[in-house]
Amino acid sequence: MSWLRLVLAVSLDGRLAPPAGGAAQLGGPADRRVLEEALAWADACLLGAGTLRAHGSSCLIHEPDLLAQRLARGAAAQPPLLLVSRSAEPAGLDPSWPFWRQPFERWLLAPEAAAGGPAPGFQRQLLLDSWPGLLGRLAEEGLGRLLLLGGAQLAGSLLAAGLVQELQLTLCPLVLGGPHTWLPLELELQPNHWTLVEQRLLGAGAGPGSGELLLRYQRTGNC
Ligand SMILES: NC(=O)c1ccc[n+]([C@@H]2O[C@H](COP(=O)([O-])OP(=O)(O)OC[C@H]3O[C@@H](n4cnc5c(N)ncnc54)[C@H](OP(=O)(O)O)[C@@H]3O)[C@@H](O)[C@H]2O)c1
Repeated sequence: MSWLRLVLAVSLDGRLAPPAGGAAQLGGPADRRVLEEALAWADACLLGAGTLRAHGSSCLIHEPDLLAQRLARGAAAQPPLLLVSRSAEPAGLDPSWPFWRQPFERWLLAPEAAAGGPAPGFQRQLLLDSWPGLLGRLAEEGLGRLLLLGGAQLAGSLLAAGLVQELQLTLCPLVLGGPHTWLPLELELQPNHWTLVEQRLLGAGAGPGSGELLLRYQRTGNC
């Protein structure tokens, strides 16, 4: 079975974007490093179509030591990007976005079968019939380490299905307010418990990104 790690930068009041929404960039350079470490760990990344619509691109590994680590273990320099949509032809994807030129494989995961091959711009399209079924098939293909890049709606679906094993949150010293909580407000979950496995102060000093805290938790189970 796959191991699914959710990685997010969140404000002190639990927001993942400012009140106006849009392309949120909450973390500083040290958060960027831990994000790239998580990308280097991953066999593949999952991204909600809403986050792609906000950014027009996804995250890449730039750090040479992390790229070298992946190449040394025989992995592609960048993990494949699995875009998640409820449609086999997601609306509002602009062909001029950098996303289409980024150096990773693009797969589409949608609950409708691809008629006549993957949607334009994607190398593969997989049927999202059920999350456990799909994650099982990905694990069989050797994609056992999955990084969930958000956003809130997709994270909510996978947490509700009980399929997220790990949370990697960078707590950023910002208080943002507004509606963009890191899980949808209407989401109802069974009470559950997580064990802290790592805590790291990021960006010591007074520069941009100082005072960020990396918190990594693994799921212990339901209460
Ligand atoms: N701070 C951070 O670390 C961070 C990380 C990620 C995102 N963000 C921010 O979060 C905001 C976007 O978040 P969001 O919650 O609006 O968007 P999202 O979760 O990225 O995307 C929502 C879309 O993803 C697809 N989707 C979600 N769950 C699905 C499911 N269970 N099955 C099939 N498709 C599913 C649907 O796409 P279709 O509409 O195509 O059907 C849905 O409309 C942006 O402001 C972004 O900057 C912040």
